[in-house]
Amino acid sequence: MKFDTKLLHAGHNPKEHQMCINVPIYPTTAFDFDDVERGAGLFDLKVAGDIYTRLSNPTNNILETRLAELEGGVGALSFSSGQAATTAAILNITSAGEEVVAASTLYGGTCNLFSSTFKKLGINVKFAKGEEPEDFEREITDKTRCIFIELLSNPALNIIDIEKLAEVAHRHGIPLIVDNTIPSPYLCRPIEWGADIVVHSTTKYISGHGNAMGGAIIDSGNFDWAASGKYPELTTPDESYHGIVYTEAFGKSAYIVKARAQILRDMGACPSPFNSYLTISGLETLSLRMRRHCDSALKIAEWLEAHPSISWVNYPGLKSSKYYELAQKYTPKGCSSIIGFGLKGGARAGEKFINSLTIPIHTTNIGDTRSIITYPYLTTHRQLSDEQKVACGVTDDFMRFSVGLEDIDDIIEDLERAIKLSQCI
Ligand SMILES: Cc1ncc(COP(=O)(O)O)c(C=O)c1O
Repeated sequence: MKFDTKLLHAGHNPKEHQMCINVPIYPTTAFDFDDVERGAGLFDLKVAGDIYTRLSNPTNNILETRLAELEGGVGALSFSSGQAATTAAILNITSAGEEVVAASTLYGGTCNLFSSTFKKLGINVKFAKGEEPEDFEREITDKTRCIFIELLSNPALNIIDIEKLAEVAHRHGIPLIVDNTIPSPYLCRPIEWGADIVVHSTTKYISGHGNAMGGAIIDSGNFDWAASGKYPELTTPDESYHGIVYTEAFGKSAYIVKARAQILRDMGACPSPFNSYLTISGLETLSLRMRRHCDSALKIAEWLEAHPSISWVNYPGLKSSKYYELAQKYTPKGCSSIIGFGLKGGARAGEKFINSLTIPIHTTNIGDTRSIITYPYLTTHRQLSDEQKVACGVTDDFMRFSVGLEDIDDIIEDLERAIKLSQCI
């Protein structure tokens, strides 16, 4: 199946679900084991089937298969949020006393997770001091267990050269994990460029309608855990699961099976089947939505760049962007729908601009059908000191705009009016 056909059909066979053409929701916590022999087989991971929804559920399974096929992986695991997926992706292969090397430009929630909660768990995350593969390599030690980056990071929208970084990671016997939330698999499939694990906040473009929190991990199946020698949790008996050795029992799927059998079992951040249903419904139109998001975002970025009251625009699809070449390589179909821009006039103009907009919704989400504007300086980052704000790139002129699917003429007209009002103070 080609990509657009997979969006509608992968993972769902109506014959296995009462001939339902739409993916059914299975609102059940537990599943009948039938006889003891089958129950024992389920618990030994020798018989395929569902036990308890914290571990798996038929609706969630369809979402997982679909995402694995779309990203080109051997398996996927769904979660209640993107944060839960990121946490599990790393805890699955990193323990106290070990290290992660991460990009310094990441979603704020991921930065907090890495620099605060992981620190408490004894995992040291070292942030690369630049964006070149050498900047990451410099931070790698014998204790490093993975490299973590975002593609089109939120909100810096930078692009790190995945192919070159994967080579660095593999030379050191560690996997590259890529958060592919903002491109979605429609714009880029990091596994094709050498990434080993892909993470998503499905809350954004995958579900696409701002109505369902969710997250996912997709395993490429390409990383050789045994050859690396750094992952005894995958290559030696798991005493918490009848002494199973994941690499021996599951081969290429060792990582994703362990993530379910151990991390999801213990952390419990499974999605509700209802949310998976909403995510699957939204996912069906991913290609159509992404095409429109990208077209509108590029036109709006060009319009903003030419506007006299806008001091700067950050969008990798603009020829003026320092990431333009990398965008042509990794996201040739478009650069998704987030634009950063600077409005002249400082915080007073910023407040007036936000309060004057009528179409974009003033909130903090991205990847919704509706346009969303965020003014981090006076809202999401207001608790930070001025120095901290500067360090995160949150200046008093910075606006983050997630371009929605409304008629582009309406969006531009609304922006024009609000910009004009913002300058009359
Ligand atoms: C790039 C990226 N990754 C992960 C997350 C976290 O996802 P969630 O809000 O679903 O937990 C976000 C949230 O904005 C994000 O933008």
